[in-house]
Amino acid sequence: AHQWRGVIAEYADRLPAHVQERVVTLGEGGTPLVPSPTLSARTGAEVFVKVEGMNPTGSFKDRGMTTAMSAAAGRGAKAVVCASTGNTSASAAAYATRAGMVCAVLVPDGKIAMGKLSQAIAHGATLLQVDGNFDDCLIAARKLAEAYPVELVNSVNPDRIEGQKTAAFEIVDALGDAPDIHVLPVGNAGNITAYWKGYREYAALDAGAAHTAVATRTPIMWGFQASGAAPIVLGHPVDQPETIATAIRIGNPASWLQAEEARDTSGGLIEAVTDEQILTAHRVLSAEVGIFVEPASASGVAGLLALSDAGRVPAGARIVVTVTGHGLKDPQWALRAADGSEVAPVRISSDVVSIATALGLD
Ligand code: F0G
Repeated sequence: AHQWRGVIAEYADRLPAHVQERVVTLGEGGTPLVPSPTLSARTGAEVFVKVEGMNPTGSFKDRGMTTAMSAAAGRGAKAVVCASTGNTSASAAAYATRAGMVCAVLVPDGKIAMGKLSQAIAHGATLLQVDGNFDDCLIAARKLAEAYPVELVNSVNPDRIEGQKTAAFEIVDALGDAPDIHVLPVGNAGNITAYWKGYREYAALDAGAAHTAVATRTPIMWGFQASGAAPIVLGHPVDQPETIATAIRIGNPASWLQAEEARDTSGGLIEAVTDEQILTAHRVLSAEVGIFVEPASASGVAGLLALSDAGRVPAGARIVVTVTGHGLKDPQWALRAADGSEVAPVRISSDVVSIATALGLD
């Protein structure tokens, strides 16, 4: 039986040689592309969900971390650093452990989901809560990596983009061609940059050279930021980004220009969704689609539903929406009802009759 070997082994022919000298992998990639009858019916399109929470540390970051960490290991690096809203730190910590390297992470004070914090600590990273937001953390991490013997593994590191582009390859391989539209959340803008690179590379291949499929085209890229942290939509940095979607609470994305390029060259858009729209999409995903994600991950679906309500989704279009991280990272949001009230389990004695009554089975 075929066992998925991680994105570097699976896409060796499409990745640079320097990430393949000393491969550091936890078997990332090969994530499900789930057709969603619910989202298809809601939008009048043919919608697939790319479930990136199924990566080893529960987010898409692992695709880029295997390549960044392999490159660092190949150069003989002993230590890595990253700034993070949580998922990058969880991933960096796990892959550094695998590589036998020291890992330092800079996170914004008090705005990290508990699951992510636990992961970084469990994997033995040195975690520093910085008095500042993600953007401040990234500036500090960049300066540290310039002045000290430690490698930066944020998505400004081009090796990260190389790994993350494999998600686009997997989608083309699964569908037999690129979708019409690709939808995803945008924070620091590394992932939209990576998907766009992956789709363009597959579309540029000669027939027969691709992994299993040949893309005849590239998709239209639709990116969504949280409205309190939407610098690309506003056209200027946001000093005090705010959103319940802490993973994308970013005011000055490092890959801003690349995101605009993906948007403009693909004929796409980058728009904002409110926290309320994000939480509604989060509920649709968990209660109607069957996929549990963290809030930031629902922003692509939130945007897709908003555009559908506005009559802007082309009928019958084939659409892939990436959900970026697992719901268990930040589970508290499931315990809040649409009206904001706490959801608590019904307490009951253990006799079968009362249970049956509570279930309305009598
Ligand atoms: N979704 C999740 C769950 C994320 O963790 C991130 C980014 C994004 C979307 C946005 O992706 O930055 O490539 O545009 N998280 C980073 C981190 C910033 O530190 O974990 P992007």
